[in-house]
Amino acid sequence: MLRRLYHDQPESFAFTTANQTWAEGQITKYPEGRQASAVIPLLWRAQEQEGWLSKPAIEYVADMLGMAYIRVLEVASFYFMFQMQPVGSVAHIQICGTTSCMICGAEDLIAVCREKIAAKPHELSADGRFSWEEVECLGACTNAPMAQIGKDYFEDLTADGFAKMLDDLAAGTLPTPGPQNGRYASEPLTGLTSLKEYESGQTQYNASAQLASDLGDTVKRIDGTEVPLLTPWVGKDGKVAGREAENAPPAPAPTPKPAVKQAEEAKKKAKAKDKSVEAEKPEVKAKPAKKADGKAETKAPKAAKVKAKDKAPAKAKKAPAAKATAPSTPDDLKLLKGVGPALEKKLHSNGVTTFAQIAAWGSAEITDMDDKLLFKGRIERDNWVEQAKQLAEGDDTEFSQRAKKGDVY
Ligand code: FES
Repeated sequence: MLRRLYHDQPESFAFTTANQTWAEGQITKYPEGRQASAVIPLLWRAQEQEGWLSKPAIEYVADMLGMAYIRVLEVASFYFMFQMQPVGSVAHIQICGTTSCMICGAEDLIAVCREKIAAKPHELSADGRFSWEEVECLGACTNAPMAQIGKDYFEDLTADGFAKMLDDLAAGTLPTPGPQNGRYASEPLTGLTSLKEYESGQTQYNASAQLASDLGDTVKRIDGTEVPLLTPWVGKDGKVAGREAENAPPAPAPTPKPAVKQAEEAKKKAKAKDKSVEAEKPEVKAKPAKKADGKAETKAPKAAKVKAKDKAPAKAKKAPAAKATAPSTPDDLKLLKGVGPALEKKLHSNGVTTFAQIAAWGSAEITDMDDKLLFKGRIERDNWVEQAKQLAEGDDTEFSQRAKKGDVY
């Protein structure tokens, strides 16, 4: 089968709030500059949420990780754990067809799939609830033949038992993963021959099957309402321990400042700064005489104004805010580490087109933009403001140098 993007793609993709929190948590597991290492867990979570990996989902994950779309597509299309087209809404069944399983009856299991689901692999059943495919060895050869559904293995299958399992699934019953012939794990069929003392402390099922059974998370899809299961720092209530500020309900977003307004404010600040410098000089010290002396009142401001004007141009050329006066000439925001094509598009749609605008952001603008981009913490984590300051002044960052050479992922 050719693993390529499906011909019929959805308009967009976004993680649910719970999955977004989980995904951001995964990224923090990796050192600075190595966020791309989270690509497989994030793709897997996107697939668990939607059932398969669409182009928008791949792009979304790429943007989260600052990776080129093609790099993420390469990962998604390489591993057959990732589904590149819609699958059954209840279950997609992967039957191992490699040697051990084939010898032990995989072809009978495939015959059941053809009969109960669809004649061809990757074809949806008539009701759209099931699909199947044959895959290569899944590493459970001792328990052949076997099938994988979602992230669980169903082992030691027989055609009849497997057919019943499909009927149960169709009726809404979740099967228990693991060996289906009474075997505990992968011990000999006749029972343990050694290490028998471990039998006394056994749980009902082997560790993997027991966990899936306890969580009730076997073939069930993650619909975004569950608390992420493998993120120890996220509690059952979905809150992150020790991060009370983040757990608090979000404050109303500040009204975004248009670029022109930001530039005006920056100018005002620059003027105020110049004035305060002047205020320390002797001639401006005469200012307090304004109220008592009419002459001073008319002359002093003029002098200050002329001086401020004389000094302003030199600074205005370098100050990032000055560039914001010409947002009609957009910068290549992808030179910022952490900004990919989709994030750049989002920034544009929020009126941000230049490095100078980003360089002028304070904490309120960062919080606001974090919300708008749906990547909480991303701006600070990648230090966009500092990067933008350097780029706005015409300098390069280590990342922008690599990006210009096309040497980034
Ligand atoms: Fe089927 Fe290895 S041959 S799991």
